[in-house]
Amino acid sequence: MGESLQKLFEGYREGYALPGAVYKDPEIYELEVEHILLKSWLYVGHQSLVPERGDYFLFEIAGESVILIRDAQGGINALLNVCRHRGSRICDVPEGHESRLTCRYHGWTYGLDGSLKAAARTPEGFDRSKWGLKRLHVAVLEGMIFVNFAENAPDFSALAREMGPPLRPYGLDKAKVALRRNYPIASNWKLTVENYCECYHCQPAHPEYSVGHGRAIPDAECTAMRSDVMAKAEGVGLTQHTIRHSWLGAPAFGLDYSFDRYPLLRGQLTGSRDGKPVAPLLGTITGYDGGTTDFHLGPMTFGLAYCDHVVLYRFTPRGHHLTDCEITWLVNEKAVEGKDYDLANLTWLWDVTTIADKAIIERNQAGVDSRYYEPGPLSPSMEPFTQQFLNWYVAAMRRITGGGLPGRRPVATIRKTAEGRT
Ligand code: FES
Ligand SMILES: [Fe+2]
Repeated sequence: MGESLQKLFEGYREGYALPGAVYKDPEIYELEVEHILLKSWLYVGHQSLVPERGDYFLFEIAGESVILIRDAQGGINALLNVCRHRGSRICDVPEGHESRLTCRYHGWTYGLDGSLKAAARTPEGFDRSKWGLKRLHVAVLEGMIFVNFAENAPDFSALAREMGPPLRPYGLDKAKVALRRNYPIASNWKLTVENYCECYHCQPAHPEYSVGHGRAIPDAECTAMRSDVMAKAEGVGLTQHTIRHSWLGAPAFGLDYSFDRYPLLRGQLTGSRDGKPVAPLLGTITGYDGGTTDFHLGPMTFGLAYCDHVVLYRFTPRGHHLTDCEITWLVNEKAVEGKDYDLANLTWLWDVTTIADKAIIERNQAGVDSRYYEPGPLSPSMEPFTQQFLNWYVAAMRRITGGGLPGRRPVATIRKTAEGRT
């Protein structure tokens, strides 16, 4: 790690965009993966993906693969998809069901908790109990599963304790996944997060969104409308929470969480083509208060909670110039497609918006890759959350490149947390 990297981050000027090197230097990307992404709480999927014992799905990030599998006791285990014999991947089908996990290379066989059950012709004195699959920390909040690769992951309980009550009325633990769709974006992960964190681009890029959402105009211009939403919230079974613990305001690195309500405009009730409901009310919600909610869970996951559906965004780096943006649309558990909601209608707004985001982010990547790119000033009224992200990122990179971080590669450990037991 060169002095030059240290200088690069020491030289960042608050109020401005980041230097171009951070979007294309493979060395920086490797440092980010090791010290930022693999040390953060990462949303991986909804628990309805694994309803029965032996059901599993894979979560892949930056060359790592994790098996999320339901065990006999009903818990969810996060197991590294790396055989303890000579390292082969064990599962390569993205979702499935297995009664045991058998490596097809030499047949080592693991239980659903990752313990090694069988291995043929091992050396004398071989202790099977020492060769189980490595496990990651796992936690479940309102049906949403999170993992953390770090050995000393920050306790998830602060997030669960504070975010549980405002999220509970939406009934996300039982909600139905109406659709999961991936939008691969040919850009560095930071450009995807920067873009998500600001709505300066909404007026030019998202006319469909801007017409109905208060986020498209400065917060100061929404104050009265926001108060109105907050006043109505409890009457429809929602709460008046405002929680802001993202970025440098998080209680621990990688444990970001926020819950922030804002008004819908022009009498819209939800995020849809005409502002009218697109699905039955969620959970225990009894009506529409004219607002919506932005929430943030761990650095890479953002959500939008309307009264009738929730849209979850999961950003996952695949390489320094490739990021997956997976969207999950959640609806009331009892909602039946074709009867209670039309899938195309439900997903229209965030599909069209994300297709537009993919285009602007990829164009942004092409521009910052120019040798003539120079960081420009951010808008104080429209890009404050992006500024907070940049400050957090730069603080982390200063620590990393300044030699202030002990240890090397994070190692998975045997510890498990789950909702109610964190
Ligand atoms: S690498 Fe898995 S059994 Fe040999
Ligand atoms: Fe956007």
